[in-house]
Amino acid sequence: MDLTTKLTELVLTAELYNKNETFSADDLPYHIRTHYWNIKDKTVSRPIYVAEIDVEKIYDVNGIRESLKKLPFIEFEEFGSQIKLTVFDIASKWFAKQPDAKELIQKNPVLSHHFEKKEMLDVSYEKSKKANKPKEASRQWIDSLLNDIAAEKDSEDMLKLVYILAPEEIEQTLDSLVLTEEQQNGVKRISSAIQHREYLKKIGLFEVGKLLFVGDTGTGKTSTASGLAKRLHLPFIEVRLSMITDQYLGETAKNIDRVFHLSKKLSPCILFIDEFDFVAKNRSSDENAALKRAVNTLLKAIDEISLVRDGVLLVAATNHPHLLDRAVWRRFDEIVDFPLPDKQIRKDIFDCITKNIDNEINTKELSKLTDGYSGSDLRVVVKDAVLSALLTDRTKLSQQDLLKAIQSFDRRIILKTEISS
Ligand SMILES: Nc1ncnc2c1ncn2[C@@H]1O[C@H](COP(=O)(O)OP(=O)(O)O)[C@@H](O)[C@H]1O
Ligand SMILES: [Mg+2]
Repeated sequence: MDLTTKLTELVLTAELYNKNETFSADDLPYHIRTHYWNIKDKTVSRPIYVAEIDVEKIYDVNGIRESLKKLPFIEFEEFGSQIKLTVFDIASKWFAKQPDAKELIQKNPVLSHHFEKKEMLDVSYEKSKKANKPKEASRQWIDSLLNDIAAEKDSEDMLKLVYILAPEEIEQTLDSLVLTEEQQNGVKRISSAIQHREYLKKIGLFEVGKLLFVGDTGTGKTSTASGLAKRLHLPFIEVRLSMITDQYLGETAKNIDRVFHLSKKLSPCILFIDEFDFVAKNRSSDENAALKRAVNTLLKAIDEISLVRDGVLLVAATNHPHLLDRAVWRRFDEIVDFPLPDKQIRKDIFDCITKNIDNEINTKELSKLTDGYSGSDLRVVVKDAVLSALLTDRTKLSQQDLLKAIQSFDRRIILKTEISS
């Protein structure tokens, strides 16, 4: 793409954003917004100034001086290296004629708002809003909120309890997971609930947005929850109940409150509570009063948080559903099962994991040999096969590599059960 086109995108966007106060930072395209982001104000403050160095950083280019001279509607102030627009209309008309302009405008709500009204190009503000990642997708957004939280007196204790990921930092996408129909439906239902949050609020349906993922380790619970955060552009807050359970149980109840408080501060977001059974074990069987208090605190916190009201989607996960009592189950409006994959799904997972690896493997045969394997086990097998192939300098995976990896995986399982029994 021509440098002059990019440069003009920036000066036009800056000018329109500065003039029209109804634009929010979310109307700026991702590359411009992140560059001008102001952590303190939690937005992009007006006015945006454009200097040579801004163009170089935003578009990762060097030596823009020559390109600048080619554009008659731009004035370059040597002194402050500031780049200014002289005649807006000429710039706008010139830009609309550039071959790559439409591609940029489609991802730039500020510009599509302008060009949609001018009817010069077939673009739409609504569509570009959808194509543009919102501020919640970025690390900067989380850092801005944490900056506020740091002022609270309990903040250090609070932040030690959780692990926070920005959507842009999450590697695994939902598309790279093989999900059962039930899992896909669960994901779809919750996505549409989030999109229609305002409507749910209006009709007073507050008890939506609490999911419980049930299944063995390695069946994709954590990946599905974080993949959901990535798809919906929501910060992902992960907490393991075993980590926040203190030997002083009084502290556990406090920790639970801290985590829920923090997630409200980071809203809209997904709060993922792993090892959910760790605290929510059957209460009646336990004599310990402090533990009961911790469980009650947890149940109350779950009751009091709402996706519709607070913008926090709660996802809890457990490998031990039998440990949960009835009071826990009914608090979730959606229970999603994560079974060990059947033969067909194992084949699909093999296909999915190896899709970017040069190979001559028969995944149907492999799926027959891996009964009882979780998705995560299959990943370990493929990784093992890749590493063995690399030992003999091969980047093409053979069926033999995988068969051997499966054999050694089986041996490891036998070893493990012998040690533990
Ligand atoms: N259904 C699946 N499809 C594709 N990969 C899977 C699937 N289930 C698990 N995996 C792989 O196993 C890894 C570990 O899964 P994870 O989400 O941590 O499981 P859990 O949280 O249930 O223990 C994932 O990163 C993913 O690569
Ligand atoms: Mg997990």
